[in-house]
Amino acid sequence: MSQSSRYYHIINYGCQMNESDSEHFAGQLQKINYVPTQELPQADVIIINTCCVRESAEKKIYGKIGELKRLKTNRPEIVICIAGCLAQKEGAKLIQKYPHIDLILGTHNITRLTELIQAVQTQHQRQIAIEEDTAVIFDNQVARNNSISAWIPIMYGCNNYCSYCIVPYVRGRERSRPLQEIISEIKQLSQLGYKEVTLLGQNVNSYGKDLPTPIDFADLLTAIDFEAIERIRYMTSHPRDMNEKIIQTIAQGRKICEHFHLPIQAGSDEILQKMNRGYSVQYYKELISMVRQYVPQTSITTDIIVGFPGETDEMFNDTLALVEHIRFDAAYTFLYSPRSGTPAAMLPDQVPLLTKKNRLQQLMDVQNSISLEINKTLVGQTLEVLVEGSSKNDDSKLTGRTRTNKIVIWDNPHPDKINSGQLVNVEINSAQTWLLKGREIESI
Ligand code: 5AD
Ligand code: SF4
Repeated sequence: MSQSSRYYHIINYGCQMNESDSEHFAGQLQKINYVPTQELPQADVIIINTCCVRESAEKKIYGKIGELKRLKTNRPEIVICIAGCLAQKEGAKLIQKYPHIDLILGTHNITRLTELIQAVQTQHQRQIAIEEDTAVIFDNQVARNNSISAWIPIMYGCNNYCSYCIVPYVRGRERSRPLQEIISEIKQLSQLGYKEVTLLGQNVNSYGKDLPTPIDFADLLTAIDFEAIERIRYMTSHPRDMNEKIIQTIAQGRKICEHFHLPIQAGSDEILQKMNRGYSVQYYKELISMVRQYVPQTSITTDIIVGFPGETDEMFNDTLALVEHIRFDAAYTFLYSPRSGTPAAMLPDQVPLLTKKNRLQQLMDVQNSISLEINKTLVGQTLEVLVEGSSKNDDSKLTGRTRTNKIVIWDNPHPDKINSGQLVNVEINSAQTWLLKGREIESI
């Protein structure tokens, strides 16, 4: 690298959509000859890509913003950019409160990153870009963090207005990318040797509703289920918009993985109604039966919020009962976090923090034992695993995932090489709550 290289460093918080946006930031910066650095003090441009879905995320981010002050004092010429959801929500306040921030880049303006950095540098003026744009904002400048598995945004925004959720306010209305654009991106990736794509959207099941030509998520899945890519994943689904056509398409698909992530959020009809989720517990149970009927080998995961306003012990017990009834492979569990501006934050009967924490612990205990029981049934089976690389904690081991999205760790049988991107058969010989261990049998 030449002495005169200019460096960037991106700190990413939040969901896969944010990770994907960060790859677009990196792509834009590399196009104007910036190179990545792991060393924060070396960076000429620092981006914090932010999340505001829960207060805990915000707190961490405020802490990180504070830490950057010292760097800016030492090197005033660096550009500090706050991007993403918190930037969209609090941009005006952030720029006022933190004089060391140079650029606020909201979720509707991500393609303007380099233009605005240059404006900061040449005009010596702080910039704020949080105007809403209803257009699809995709650009083709992506520097991906992974050479096997790629994020593909298929739509932006969310129209659902679940009463607890800030996302529709910070990411705007649903906008789908045209089908042909998605297909050509996936074809390009397959030529580059990518093995897996994950289609991203806040509610992928409603893909296409806003497009001029009649097309839906099932049509999209069918159109991309071609040979060149080994695995197709997607997230996140809304149970209300998951339907028989989509499930059938997944069942028949060759490359679409046997994994359904269907956030239930709560197991009480009263709470689901207050959450504005648009389905009942009975509907959800029937949906899961249909999924299992069409795709018997599938894994099923979910998201659950505990301590939504008005949640009584009895209602929480309904959630526990549902978790025991469905037997999810895994659940991502959250304490309800009031988000100002959302209807739920204004509801009476907010649940005390201690009660929420106790419920979360109970729920995790129940779910963890179910996850372990399910994983133990896989011991002795041989599963197809896509090798992702060497294990973080032990580089004599490899790590990868099954089609059902379970993490597997095993001894690398050929220590001189890491066969990332290859499909191998692994015989499972032990199970934990969040991962499986095994022995590589053969490459596929
Ligand atoms: N508090 C707690 N969890 C939330 N989620 C979304 N908003 C909130 C909130 N205010 C959870 C939901 C969603 C996941 C991505 O985050 O479970 O599915
Ligand atoms: Fe939030 Fe509901 Fe939209 Fe998911 S579907 S992003 S929980 S509003």
